[in-house]
Amino acid sequence: MSSMRGYFGVGVEGISKEQNVGTIVRTTHAFGGSFFFTIRPSLDMQELKVSDTSGAFDHLPYYQYKKPEELDLPKGCVLVGVELTDDCVDLPSFRHPLRAAYVFGPEMGSLSPKLTQYCEHVVKIPMKFCVNVGVAAAIVIYDRMVCLGKFAERPVRPGGPMIDASKSLPKVHRRRVRSKIPE
Ligand SMILES: C[S@@+](CC[C@H](N)C(=O)[O-])C[C@H]1O[C@@H](n2cnc3c(N)ncnc32)[C@H](O)[C@@H]1O
Repeated sequence: MSSMRGYFGVGVEGISKEQNVGTIVRTTHAFGGSFFFTIRPSLDMQELKVSDTSGAFDHLPYYQYKKPEELDLPKGCVLVGVELTDDCVDLPSFRHPLRAAYVFGPEMGSLSPKLTQYCEHVVKIPMKFCVNVGVAAAIVIYDRMVCLGKFAERPVRPGGPMIDASKSLPKVHRRRVRSKIPE
């Protein structure tokens, strides 16, 4: 995987389904996230960590907070809320902060007003209605990777980037031919 500039963490507020936690932690880890956190989870996270067969929790630092006021992010890390409301910034028009923590709402509700207060930005994925929180997390992290990953630019024509032939072809070792000495 191409490396991404900066770092990011992912969190969820009031999450209640094991499967969603598992999906989001795994996606965060797969895309190179640096940490995972929950705020007021509605399920026993310690039990979940013990029964985590994917081992995703073994690879990421995990932080748990009882309420938004307890949230303690690394210095300079910008909290970005993700919610589908009219006044949010459209994700395709959003510039991701180099140091960011993305926070998602519960399956049956939205980000709390308290937590929204702590968000420097709130972004939405423009669509007709909400999708599963795990799907939303994957879209946002993928968008970050597209924007901050070190990839070749997309070409104007359909298809992948042109390969610089001089770099990809093996060097041809030509035998030197001595020029004939003129008689
Ligand atoms: C399934 S939604 C919750 C239901 C939704 N808030 C509602 O009132 O119908 C769970 C979480 O996923 C995220 N989410 C889902 N779809 C989204 C979208 N299109 N844009 C931004 N966030 C989204 C948000 O963080 C949201 O709180």
